[in-house]
Amino acid sequence: MKTVITYGTFDLLHYGHIRLLERAKELGDYLIVGITSDDFDKIRGKINVQQPLAERVAAVKATGLADQIIVEEYEGQKIDDIQRYGVDCFTVGSDWVGKFDYLKDYCDVVYLDRTKGVSSSQLRSKDRKLKLGLVGETPVFLNKFYEENKYVNGVEINGICTEDVSKFCDEIQKLDIVTNDLDDIIKNSDAVYIKSEHDLHYEHIKKALEAKKNVLCESPVALSKKQCEELFDLADKNGCVLMDAIRTAYSTAYARLLLLVKSGKIGDVVSVEATCTSMKYLKRTKSLLDWGANAMLPVFDILGTNYKSKTIISRFKDKGNHEDYYTQVDFIYDKATASIKVAEGAKSEGSLVIIGTKGYIYVPAPWWKMDYFEVRYEDQEENKRYFYQLDGEGIRYELVAFARVAQNKEMDYNRISKDVSLGICGVMEDFLGGEVVEI
Ligand code: CTP
Repeated sequence: MKTVITYGTFDLLHYGHIRLLERAKELGDYLIVGITSDDFDKIRGKINVQQPLAERVAAVKATGLADQIIVEEYEGQKIDDIQRYGVDCFTVGSDWVGKFDYLKDYCDVVYLDRTKGVSSSQLRSKDRKLKLGLVGETPVFLNKFYEENKYVNGVEINGICTEDVSKFCDEIQKLDIVTNDLDDIIKNSDAVYIKSEHDLHYEHIKKALEAKKNVLCESPVALSKKQCEELFDLADKNGCVLMDAIRTAYSTAYARLLLLVKSGKIGDVVSVEATCTSMKYLKRTKSLLDWGANAMLPVFDILGTNYKSKTIISRFKDKGNHEDYYTQVDFIYDKATASIKVAEGAKSEGSLVIIGTKGYIYVPAPWWKMDYFEVRYEDQEENKRYFYQLDGEGIRYELVAFARVAQNKEMDYNRISKDVSLGICGVMEDFLGGEVVEI
């Protein structure tokens, strides 16, 4: 009996896939189809896959062409599979010519002509693209955001609202809409991404939501709880989406860390300590406004926003302008405590430590670009290290999530709850209102 194996994602199963499977089957007597797991796809940069593994497996099964279906979960698995299943022939479409020649040491390798004119990517972007307008004055960041969007199916950046476009990359300068009029960009887009100054967020978001446009905005979305609540109510009323943009929330490592904590791996959490510092932006010293939301994310995700009390401690450069060199916020909960330390005028190790009754989780600097963490115990032999791929600092994953939330209302893709957004805005409000211990 001749055993043939082939691999693929098989997202939104199409005619090209079926023809590939038919011809693969004809190469032998028994066909094994390896379907990539959701995680493995993410690791290899396929971030737009629409269907979860179970659906993709069911679709391939329904073709009746596979004698056996297996899941491909890790780099290098093909060699293992070929040996384990006694495979005689490996086959894949011609888009991979040469890529799998190394398997010739183990079995025959056949590249089958790819069917022209159809692909999963094409099917995914067949739905109308979300036209996204950019709003803001930070060229370095927005240029990067623009580049990251190239990895995302279904979102097209169609314009920018900014005071001086000459500071941006050529591609942004050549967008269809280049304007300094916010109404203009709102009118011509389905959604806006806001990266303006913090004190403009509320006004910018409100305008977009009033025009029934979806909004992705850097955190904090507003500078008071009341305004934040008002914006979320407006979004609900107008049937659109307001999503808080904190990239860390979209890293796989962060999502897994939260699950480990919730499953009791380190016992009861007694403390969360998050530090974020950077001295890159010397002209700015808005430590809490720039970093506070990011640092509060794990605190609120793990311990909730229902703390008993908090103390904000700041050393100011210019108190009147809310320019803080360093700010620390200590939270007291019923059975836990948390502390965030943020600075643009002081330097520290940017780590995250979550302390539990059985052990702790340590995330090294810069923890907000999380791709790795360790779970540590008294007995070091029990320690475990966890690695995950993080591309583009999480921006591309955040954009994929925003597109799914905005277009299909798949709300579970939004990783930042309204409660967390409100909690963040509440702390900012107290800081700006002067509820601060000055050092
Ligand atoms: N395939 C094919 N003809 C097509 C599309 C895919 O022969 N028009 C083959 C691929 O070469 C591969 C298998 O089908 O051997 C699974 O491919 P997959 O990557 O899942 O499908 P694509 O449509 O290429 O997906 P994407 O657009 O996401 O790359």
